[in-house]
Amino acid sequence: MIDIRTGDAAASELLVIPVYAGRMIGADGIDAPDLESMTQVLDAHDFTGKHAQTLFIQTPEGPTPEALLVGLGDELDAEMLRRAAAGAARAAKGYASVATAMHLVDIDGAAGAVALGTILGSYSFDEYKSDPKTSKLAELVLVGGDQSAAEIASAVTLAGGVVLARDLVNRPAADTPPAALADIASGLSTDVDVKVYDESEIVEAGFGGLVAVNLGADRPARMVVMRYSPEDADKTVAFVGKGIVFDSGGLSIKPASGMETMKTDMAGAAAVMGAVKVIAELGLKVNVIGITPLTENLTGGSAQKPGDVMRAYNGKTIEVLNTDAEGRLVLADGLALAAENEPDLIVDIATLTGACKVALGPSIGGLFASDDEAAELVGGAALAAGEKMWRMPLEAEYKPLIESDIADMKNTAGRWGGAITAALILSEFVGDTPWVHLDVAGPARAEKGEHYISKGGTGFGVRTLVEIARALA
Ligand code: BES
Ligand code: MN
Ligand code: ZN
Repeated sequence: MIDIRTGDAAASELLVIPVYAGRMIGADGIDAPDLESMTQVLDAHDFTGKHAQTLFIQTPEGPTPEALLVGLGDELDAEMLRRAAAGAARAAKGYASVATAMHLVDIDGAAGAVALGTILGSYSFDEYKSDPKTSKLAELVLVGGDQSAAEIASAVTLAGGVVLARDLVNRPAADTPPAALADIASGLSTDVDVKVYDESEIVEAGFGGLVAVNLGADRPARMVVMRYSPEDADKTVAFVGKGIVFDSGGLSIKPASGMETMKTDMAGAAAVMGAVKVIAELGLKVNVIGITPLTENLTGGSAQKPGDVMRAYNGKTIEVLNTDAEGRLVLADGLALAAENEPDLIVDIATLTGACKVALGPSIGGLFASDDEAAELVGGAALAAGEKMWRMPLEAEYKPLIESDIADMKNTAGRWGGAITAALILSEFVGDTPWVHLDVAGPARAEKGEHYISKGGTGFGVRTLVEIARALA
């Protein structure tokens, strides 16, 4: 992890000089060159200082020979600052030690935004590369301004949770069987108590959805329950993350093209693990229960078949007409287990439906809520975190679409409104507990890297879940 601290620029190899509203921002030891004296250079490179534009220049008499200009545009908010910092970090990836005054803009949480953008913009997943092109950036010094050490530390902790979630998603499914993910959950923090249900305990407890999906797989399932219970906490929130280590579709098999990225189908579980780790490390005063049903969805000789019926943890039965609609089956158990703990709020996060990705595109998550208050709390947290979520209707009028001839409900409802009918199925397992469902099928994965989003697993949701915990603390 990049060391980010306040200090002076003396030992830095590169100075990152922000250009904000047509002015360069310097600091002690970072001489902001006079823009007018540089017009020729800037014009030659078309550098206007627009948001996230970067340009390497020589400083006339600075302490180091190299400087990087980064545009902040004319109007700035925390999200734009994160993105600009990430752009600068990408440009500066060849330098080990960098100093900047980018945090001196007049924005709440500027130092944290610069820290988060720098770490996430420098991220790459290199575990399987023989010749990795990893960023060399090891140290970022924020020069000048008041003491923002605590703010920086908490942003670094938060970035660590996002990085963990990205790593877990990016690792090949072959190397992340349910048991290995459960081990990682067990080691998140000494302040988190973890109970892992193994295959026989899963059957005994009655997690029938998890059992059903696991039937086609050789590697056994795990149900993980993480508990963070600090002293003096009033509220309890339960996070439930879909943990399909690989989704082939099961016997209702996916076409090859649809399967390529399906190691991403545990991104909800990864987000919950990342968030629980961050919340514990920050010591937030709120009880958190993190629940992740973990299995792969494969086609072995014992695989569940269309027409089979499973019974979830709360006793309700689901007729499985399409084995590719497996997320709702394992979440049924996870949500019922969460509700049994009587938390103040349940939030689930899942790469649940292609339909949600069709509706909202690749960078916006769908938000479904049992009530307006819960929707506002989670929507507000997402907004504060800088993750885009859009509220979708939990339309009771569509409930007849999930009626089954032989069971309490069926697991598919045809093509139209697929994200909504999936959410309606989940709603059957939360009882009266306030509940929000986040469908992150789009934003969990990025087709290309830009600003602080990396190609592949994005860690989407970690920051929103942490912000929810902050709001309840
Ligand atoms: N994991 C998929 C959803 C998904 C699709 C996530 C594309 C990310 C990108 C989920 O298990 C699934 O297969 N859903 C089906 C449901 C259908 C069979 C009712 C879908 O969306 O097609
Ligand atoms: Mn599926
Ligand atoms: Zn799935």
